[in-house]
Amino acid sequence: MCWTYHNLTSVLGSSTELVIIGLLGVLFGTCAANVCIDAGLETTDGFLPNATDCTMYVSCFKGLPYDMACPINYFFDPTLVKCSATYVCPAPSTCPETGIVKQPVAGVCAEYSLCIDGTAYPKTCAAGLAFSEAKQNCVLAADAGCIENKCATITTDPKIYGDDVCSANYYICDKAGEPIAFTCDTGLIFDATVLDCIVGECPVV
Ligand SMILES: *[C@@H]1O[C@H](CO)[C@@H](O)[C@H](O)[C@H]1NC(C)=O
Repeated sequence: MCWTYHNLTSVLGSSTELVIIGLLGVLFGTCAANVCIDAGLETTDGFLPNATDCTMYVSCFKGLPYDMACPINYFFDPTLVKCSATYVCPAPSTCPETGIVKQPVAGVCAEYSLCIDGTAYPKTCAAGLAFSEAKQNCVLAADAGCIENKCATITTDPKIYGDDVCSANYYICDKAGEPIAFTCDTGLIFDATVLDCIVGECPVV
């Protein structure tokens, strides 16, 4: 907890005082290192992801970490190293402390998280497959009963999309960005061009 005092910024309002307090911390042996120094940002300034909250990030300034918040509805993308409106934050690990369990990734059908004694390993199913929590395995995508959440990537309003392969299924995104499933009536299929049901049949593969 040795770097918590940087939250005093608003109280002290002076980075000089913060540096002095930081030095005192080092002198009294309360601080060995911090996330910035660990990441090699001791002399170079830069940004790091906040390990637990992706609406936040860490700004490293002269080797000191400062907690920063992204603008509302923006999320810190560790690849672009900036807050982004389209970045989808990874779900926090919910791995049980012991045992081997495979957990689904919300809204991303082809991915799952392999938990081994509390550590999560991200995994991706082979092409055409999707993860089934019930079967604890990758299965044919059509059999997985999973809804791909594409709400964050669609820019037109209202947000409507169909399956990747021809089907009667389509999804309408609600305000929370969650897809709600609908099915075209018998004899109709969803058409991605008109974004509605049309008369037709899917080609037999
Ligand atoms: C990350 O965010 C959490 C929650 O907002 C905050 O308590 C913590 O201080 C932040 N910083 C780091 C380095 O985890």
